Order: sequence, then structure tokens, then C-alpha cells
Amino acid sequence: MSELLQKIPRHVAIIMDGNGRWAVQRGLARHRGHREGAKSVREVVRGCRSAGVQYLTLYAFSLANWARPKTEVTALMRLLVHFARREVAELREREISVGVIGRPEDLPPVTRRALQELIEKTSSGTRMRLSLALSYGGRNDIARAAREAAEQVRRGEITPEQIDEGWIRAHLSTGDLPDPDLVIRTGGEQRFSDFLAYESVYAEFFFSDLLWPQFNETSLIEAFQWYGTRERRFGKTSAQLQAEAEPSDSR
Ligand code: IPE
Ligand code: IPE
Ligand code: MG
Repeated sequence: MSELLQKIPRHVAIIMDGNGRWAVQRGLARHRGHREGAKSVREVVRGCRSAGVQYLTLYAFSLANWARPKTEVTALMRLLVHFARREVAELREREISVGVIGRPEDLPPVTRRALQELIEKTSSGTRMRLSLALSYGGRNDIARAAREAAEQVRRGEITPEQIDEGWIRAHLSTGDLPDPDLVIRTGGEQRFSDFLAYESVYAEFFFSDLLWPQFNETSLIEAFQWYGTRERRFGKTSAQLQAEAEPSDSR
């Protein structure tokens, strides 16, 4: 796939939305949509890995999602256990390591243990990092970093002057991940729903009307093709970027 695309994002982050609607439209219970969505997860993991994406972050369960009906929350927590057990062999084979961002400590013990095992068994993978955002909220993550800063100051480990954008960035739960280059949201909504707020300041946004269970490798390629047409200026001018891209001996 990668030879067809000129520019591959290093870090892709996805708000996987629309599972419930997919199920309801078919007269099924919402949890069936989540189960079907797991197939899209597998396809997108494979697609990103073969395209050469280095970091893939999936928004699987938000802090706000705890407010959903208990039966749906339980079904999602169980699905995570199945996902962890079913995918471990393939993830290892493809040399993909798994991590969690957010508040894994909020998850039920069974889910936590299954994820911990998945993390340990895939830890040698160096080709791609798959991060699952679980019990994740962007504001909460920032607030926790701020609290950690206050505690370190109180203990005399750092001074207030040392707390800058970089310090906060390094103390988010995404501290060991680069900023996302491309954020994809499926399901037709054009909002952020408390995803990577601090990290996405220069991300490109791709919104798809497809419901998550309908999103497949072709949809992913479309998103990458669109990404390839973007000029990422990071505050500079187009002329500056072109000058920087020219080899120095032709100047
Ligand atoms: C996204 O699908 C998955 C999670 C939030 C866990 P939804 O369950 O939000 O699906 P819709 O938006 O209701 O269709
Ligand atoms: C965002 O989807 C969270 C995940 C995809 C896990 P939601 O369906 O929860 O978002 P809202 O409530 O429509 O904003
Ligand atoms: Mg939704």
C-alpha cells in the first residue's frame, strides 16, 4: 500500500464512532455494533502496519462513556477482554506493541488483567505502537499532569519555572508518543469529544460519514490520500516551507 501513497502520517489517531447506530439500523442490540467494530479495528491495524504508520491510537472508551447504560459498558469491557486474547498472536507476529492511555485503573480487574497480559506479551514489538485510549478524557489527562506538577513543586523536585508546554506534554498519558499527525473520526460527527486535546494542536482532521463497522482498508487509504494533499505549515508560510525543502546546493 505504501508505494501508492506519497506521505504516510507517523501517528494516526482514530475516534471510532458509529457502532451503536450501525446496530440499531439493522435492528440489533448496540453491543452487536461494538462487536462488528472490532473487525474494523483489525483491518485498520493491519492497514496502518503495512503502510508504515508507526503509532496508531484508538479511542475505544471515553471517560464520558461510563455514563452509558450498565449493560453496554459491561459488553464493552468484555469485548476488550476478547480482543486482547484473540489478537495477541497476530499482533506479536506483526511486531506491534500495545499500550494504554487514559485511566486503565478505572477498568474492571478482569479487563485490566487481560490488557496487562496483552501489553506484556507484545512488548518486544518495534514496528508499530498500538495505543488504546480507555477511560480516556483529554481534560482529565491535562488536569492530572497539572496536579503532578504541583506535587513535584511541593516536594521541591522542580521549580514553577520548569513547568512549560514541554513539561506538561511529557507528563500526559501520551508522554511517550509523538503528537498525532492525522486524526480520523467516523460516524459523521465533526467534534472532538474530549480526545487528544493537548496533543492535536497541529493534527489534520479527516471526518468520515461511514459508521465505524463500515470503515475498512479502502477508507483508510482514502484518508491517507487526503492527508497527502495537505500542506502542513506549522505557522510558517508556504514559501518558507518550499525553501526549506530545496537541497542547499541549489540555493
Ligand atoms: C463508538 O460508537 C464506540 C464507543 C463510544 C465505545 P458509539 O457506541 O458511540 O456509536 P453511536 O455514536 O451511538 O452510533
Ligand atoms: C467518542 O464517541 C468516544 C469514542 C469513540 C470512544 P462518543 O459517541 O462517546 O461521542 P459523543 O458523545 O457523540 O460526542
Ligand atoms: Mg457515538
